[in-house]
Amino acid sequence: MGSPHWKRLCLLLMAGLTSSLLLYSHYYATMGAPSSQRIIASLLQPEPLVLAASGTSHRAGSRRWALGGNLDSGNSFKPSAELEEPEPSGKQPSPCLHSVMARAKADPKFREIFRFDTPVLMWDQHFTLETWNRLKARHVPYGWQGLSLAVVGSTLRLLNSSANRHLWDRAAFPGRCVRCAVVGNGGILNGSRQGRAIDSHDLVFRLNGAVIKGFEEDVGTKVSFYGFTVNTMKNSLIAYEEYGFTRIPQGKDLKYIFIPSDVRDYLMLRSAIQGTPVPEGSDKGDEPQKYFGPKVSAEKFKLLHPDFLQYLTARFLRSDLLNTQYGSLYMPSTGALMLLTALHTCDQVSAYGFITANYEQFSDHYYEVEKKPLVFYANHDMMLEAALWSSLHRAGIITLYQR
Ligand SMILES: *[C@@H]1O[C@H](CO)[C@@H](O)[C@H](O)[C@H]1NC(C)=O
Ligand SMILES: *[C@@H]1O[C@H](CO)[C@@H](O)[C@H](O)[C@H]1NC(C)=O
Repeated sequence: MGSPHWKRLCLLLMAGLTSSLLLYSHYYATMGAPSSQRIIASLLQPEPLVLAASGTSHRAGSRRWALGGNLDSGNSFKPSAELEEPEPSGKQPSPCLHSVMARAKADPKFREIFRFDTPVLMWDQHFTLETWNRLKARHVPYGWQGLSLAVVGSTLRLLNSSANRHLWDRAAFPGRCVRCAVVGNGGILNGSRQGRAIDSHDLVFRLNGAVIKGFEEDVGTKVSFYGFTVNTMKNSLIAYEEYGFTRIPQGKDLKYIFIPSDVRDYLMLRSAIQGTPVPEGSDKGDEPQKYFGPKVSAEKFKLLHPDFLQYLTARFLRSDLLNTQYGSLYMPSTGALMLLTALHTCDQVSAYGFITANYEQFSDHYYEVEKKPLVFYANHDMMLEAALWSSLHRAGIITLYQR
């Protein structure tokens, strides 16, 4: 193939043409500076999350978040009608005093936002007529609108092992606080020498272009979970190949977390468990063992619940972008979804390589040789994510690595 730059450009063009409309920071320049007030306002926004159909025009500016005022009173907060009562998630009890849950419940703002009984994962028992009827009214990743019942049903039916119902088994950590590290790919990790600290966690989450070789001192080597959408996984293999991201992390104890952002994710997951090539769609003919290794079974895979993605977006990352023409494309970044998944499953959570207030000092990723500015995609709201991490860190709910 030609030069890496050519490849990158090509990838971006392809992605733009196919679906996800990747626009750069020019757009963001108009979105305003990060402000902690803004996130608080948006966190407490009581209206249901509305995801506009693409192509519709919007009442621009008619739903600005109210800034100023006494944002901490939180008295007017009501859970949105769109968020149904979650089914019990069967969460295993934690023996941990200084847990995410304990700290969140002690915080006046975050105790109104977290709902620890929201189911995180989806498995075969969720495939009921009631769930189908409910989720087919919401588009992906928050539901199943436009997806075939046969594809969703046959995929979920394969997620029938007990390992599909929880991220990890508390019995493996008797009487312990289970500490998780979530490793984003931010340039802040270059030269950080955090590898040992990261690997000292019980469980380590990584995602997308998680280059390890050559960066062990900075990012460690342990991988308990790898999170992705089929789109971000395949794009990472193309875009970061030049930095050594030539294959998806594999390992005996490694589990994959599928983010169901498209029918592609259901199709790839089903084929991965069946050990067959993808039979239809844009990944037709693709062999899942190329990504996940040979002889993988259902226990290897976790599928995030569309209700969980809806809850996270509505309560933690309800972006102003939802009110723009890009509203239907918006979703939290893969890193945000992994960090929030850890927050709802682990006792303690450290975040490495996530966006911080001084992000401009660092390259986009830790493995770039020459500094590249952080790329802002129109379908994510990195400034809102930055404000959330900083806010969670100040509340003592996560430990955010900063320098
Ligand atoms: C799960 O489903 C597969 C395929 O239908 C079946 O072979 C397997 O025995 C089931 N496993 C469990 C634990 O029920
Ligand atoms: C990352 O660190 C290495 C070693 O310190 C340095 O040579 C390289 O330029 C850095 N990359 C960026 C993008 O700053």
